[in-house]
Amino acid sequence: MSVAATVLGAPVERREGRLKVTGGARYAAEYRLPGRVHAWPVPAAVARGRVTAVDTAAALALPGVLTVLTCENAPRMAEPEDAALAVLQDPRVPHRGWFVALAVAESPEAARAAAEAVEVTYAQEEHDVTLRVDHPGAYEPETANGGFPGRREHGHPESAFAASAVRVDVGYRVPPLHNHPMEPHSSTAHWSHGRLTVYASSQGGTAMRDTLAQMFELPEERITVVSEHVGGGFGSKGTARPDTVLAVLAAKATGRPVTVALPRRFLPAAVGHRAPTLHRIRLGADVDGRLTSLTHVATTWTSRIKEFVEQAAVPGRVMYAVPQSLTTHRVVPLDVPSPSWMRAPGEAPGMYALESALDELAGALGMDPVELRVRNEPDREPDSGRPFSSRHLVECLREGARRFGWAHRDPRPRSRAEGPLLIGTGVASATYPVYVQPSAARARALPDGTFVVAINATDIGTGARTVLAQVAADALGVPLELVRTEVGDSDLPPASLAGGSSGTASWGWAVHEACRRLAERLADHAGPPPGAGLSARADTAGQADAGSAFARHAFGAHFAEVAVDTVTGEVRVRRMLGVFAAGRILNARTARSQFVGGMTMGLGMALTEGSTMDPVFGDFVECDLASYHVPVHADVPDVEAYWVEETDTRLNPMGSKGIGEIGIVGSAAAVGNAVHHATGVRFRELPLTPDKVL
Ligand code: MOS
Repeated sequence: MSVAATVLGAPVERREGRLKVTGGARYAAEYRLPGRVHAWPVPAAVARGRVTAVDTAAALALPGVLTVLTCENAPRMAEPEDAALAVLQDPRVPHRGWFVALAVAESPEAARAAAEAVEVTYAQEEHDVTLRVDHPGAYEPETANGGFPGRREHGHPESAFAASAVRVDVGYRVPPLHNHPMEPHSSTAHWSHGRLTVYASSQGGTAMRDTLAQMFELPEERITVVSEHVGGGFGSKGTARPDTVLAVLAAKATGRPVTVALPRRFLPAAVGHRAPTLHRIRLGADVDGRLTSLTHVATTWTSRIKEFVEQAAVPGRVMYAVPQSLTTHRVVPLDVPSPSWMRAPGEAPGMYALESALDELAGALGMDPVELRVRNEPDREPDSGRPFSSRHLVECLREGARRFGWAHRDPRPRSRAEGPLLIGTGVASATYPVYVQPSAARARALPDGTFVVAINATDIGTGARTVLAQVAADALGVPLELVRTEVGDSDLPPASLAGGSSGTASWGWAVHEACRRLAERLADHAGPPPGAGLSARADTAGQADAGSAFARHAFGAHFAEVAVDTVTGEVRVRRMLGVFAAGRILNARTARSQFVGGMTMGLGMALTEGSTMDPVFGDFVECDLASYHVPVHADVPDVEAYWVEETDTRLNPMGSKGIGEIGIVGSAAAVGNAVHHATGVRFRELPLTPDKVL
């Protein structure tokens, strides 16, 4: 068993890495099926209204053009659960950028030219895309992001706040943010003999298959969704997006395989975004720094066609011991594109606000911000009263402080300078819930002594197929090289999506279970497996759905050092250091990549990423990477990620928590707190661009 004892946790390289860097890996737009054509959507040019006429004559006259689909002639679909998918079904325009036509042609260039030649006439209506805290349309939603109670209240936070010895009452603003995975959304759809095959850049093929089955009224077994390689996804590929639906419609209308590869500038309006959040936080404490009252009100927007509420006040229900609290959400439906998931929905903006406010409270108390957090460590989850399955936030803070050299910090703001640069350091906590979803897997022993594990998991670049092989080798007690994994095809056993940091835990559980059963069968079987092999299957529906008597979350601590240029207003992060407690780490290399990737995204959130909704135009202004600035290598000099060994037997057979999202949570606050320490000025609106800082 020495093999099995070392394979889990080992820094194994991604199995598809070579294929990817040599161009051998195929992405959704690269399936060159015979007769394949291309489609290019036409985005609405008004912010609200109706399409009254579409003149396609000029487009159809161009060479290579097969058809132009509009709401008049597109195939009909059943009404989808997600209203953002009801494209080309009716003339209404709920927001600018909504797709109102689709040109189909022999080449992408011809399709684009045809799309540009389509003449659309609109009946324009007044629009409102401006989020304000006092917007008359604001209401408190019942639930946020699908399941979180919109509002939770304990005791009397208002009077407790008024009676508190030390008080902080502050507001923060996080702008709209966009996913922008390296591979923009794309789909290739093919109808053949009543069967639909879709190659999609998706985070979850099983869920996409089910969505398409409902919309196109087909039995699931007549649909196959293939997502073999996916160039990143931060939530915007978590469910089907319009590119897939358009490709399926066009393939149905033309009888040809059709690829829709969205140009990046169409993404912000079409695939979901992180909605902006306006935060009001009130913290009361006694003179020793014990929290007496917490109020977090998060106001956000949603679209007119779909309620999605960024659950930004939720982390206040998890983080600190405080007897009186109010955490609630307000949402305003506006004529904006539909928001959706983006890496750590809720936690990312919510913890920016909460952890910035904690830093402000530490300042008001004259207390070290690490100590303030340690002092308010709860022994149970504050909102639910449930015990934690494991919680090592304090260890993360202590270990991070040690590695970072926090003890040498002069706590006074604006106390360090190097010429025109002001230097500062900051800290913030991180948290992300542990989710697990039902999945099924099949494991097979072949006569040649190798093993194949099959599960419709999606490897969005995280290394999922590699880690699942490690889980399988561990459960089978065999060397890793003997195990092959098949993922990314909905004809494989159904699995949950790569989202909510739940992939590895959910899929790994099913893989572990299938391999454990296979090992038992092999032990009972004399001689090598027969020709067809020996196989075992497992489905974790019962176990994964069971819920828990324990509050299950990962935790972490971020430390950041910044230099603020007093001449240019430029903020540079010099180093970031994160320490995480996320259960058992199953692959040290890919886990580190997830943490560092999340922290880098947090750096972007802090300093460069931000989208502007133009009130007159009615759409996002920054729609490409030239204007929406994600961090580049020069922005990310030194990012270190560590973890504490955490054994938690109340999770899944591997003892793992999710690691995909926690890296972004709190990292922007650590940077912002460092900027305050450097300058003595508190900026409460992200990103901290030179125009704000100067
Ligand atoms: Mo993540 S927002 O669950 O892809």
